Amino acid sequence: MAQRVLVTGGAGFIGSTVADRFLAEGWDVTILDDLSSGREENLPASARFVRGDITTPDAAALVRDGRFDVLCHLAAQIDVRRSVLDPVYDATRNILGTLNLLEAVRASGHPTRTIFSSTGGALYGDFDPPPSAESNSKDPEAPYGIAKLSVEYYLAYYGRVHGLDNVALRYGNVYGPRQDPHGEAGVVAIFCNRLLDGRALTVFGDGAQTRDYVFSGDVARANFAAATAALPERGRLDARAFNIGTSIETSVNTLSETLREVSGATSPIEYAPARAGELARSALDTRKAQALLGWTPQVTLRDGLAQTFRYFADRRARTETHR
Ligand SMILES: NC(=O)c1ccc[n+]([C@@H]2O[C@H](COP(=O)([O-])OP(=O)(O)OC[C@H]3O[C@@H](n4cnc5c(N)ncnc54)[C@H](O)[C@@H]3O)[C@@H](O)[C@H]2O)c1
Repeated sequence: MAQRVLVTGGAGFIGSTVADRFLAEGWDVTILDDLSSGREENLPASARFVRGDITTPDAAALVRDGRFDVLCHLAAQIDVRRSVLDPVYDATRNILGTLNLLEAVRASGHPTRTIFSSTGGALYGDFDPPPSAESNSKDPEAPYGIAKLSVEYYLAYYGRVHGLDNVALRYGNVYGPRQDPHGEAGVVAIFCNRLLDGRALTVFGDGAQTRDYVFSGDVARANFAAATAALPERGRLDARAFNIGTSIETSVNTLSETLREVSGATSPIEYAPARAGELARSALDTRKAQALLGWTPQVTLRDGLAQTFRYFADRRARTETHR
């Protein structure tokens, strides 16, 4: 019988790419999503779709009774700025929603492996020079990162005390087809749309600030690798956490130049005052994922940006023909 995976947030940008990966590997895929930011058009045709909110008893019942081998948990409030404006809303979905699912896994008595989508980009803060290793100190800049870190403590606790099989993947700034402008790598979506509109690309500050941009297809492969890897000890923060990035620092200046090159568009670049509270540098050390998950990123920034721009250009062409 095919292995069974539940992908929460599977109508979203990364979750739908994760669902595609498991389907391609022959798994039976169920998606749970409330479509709050996800889109029906992202849902793979051969997945089963359940519309629902992870904070509800119905979602808990689905997990408890579903006999899933793997739970890829991506459903979340993903907007860092919104978490600053409304930390209670962020914590309700990102902490309590996750706890609801973990309690359901515990109640099921089924050996489900939970793979949690955490963040590397919003976790480590700015105190040590990049790339950050999993064991680096954590100093989240926003409630969004605090919620992700809180969940990681719960994952460790459920592993230690209740024997649950949990993994945390700490993503860099994920970009790729289907992304929207609100995520941690929203700048790529914003720039693609601006290039298509022939408008200037706005860079805040001097553009030297760096991020670790990782392609969504590589992140989906990391989820699959984490689903199937034999993993060591559970129950300690960081023990089952893996950075998923490229280890490469890319500046906003390099990002905007590369996007202009691959798109062939000629939009000018304009500079605006730096935004308060932005990290100066960020990149993730991914040697642990390589050693224990056998995972390395495969898509270069140039190829990934070209694929992403093509997606936005095709989508634009489709909506214009439907007008
Ligand atoms: N995009 C990035 O750069 C990045 C970086 C680090 C971590 N992550 C994490 O990866 C995951 C996926 O992010 P994404 O960029 O694909 O965002 P997304 O908004 O495209 O996907 C999130 C999905 O979750 C669904 N959802 C939200 N709240 C829900 C709820 N209460 N119940 C059910 N469904 C709900 C949304 O409808 C959406 O389909 C998130 O957990 C996010 O925090 C993303």
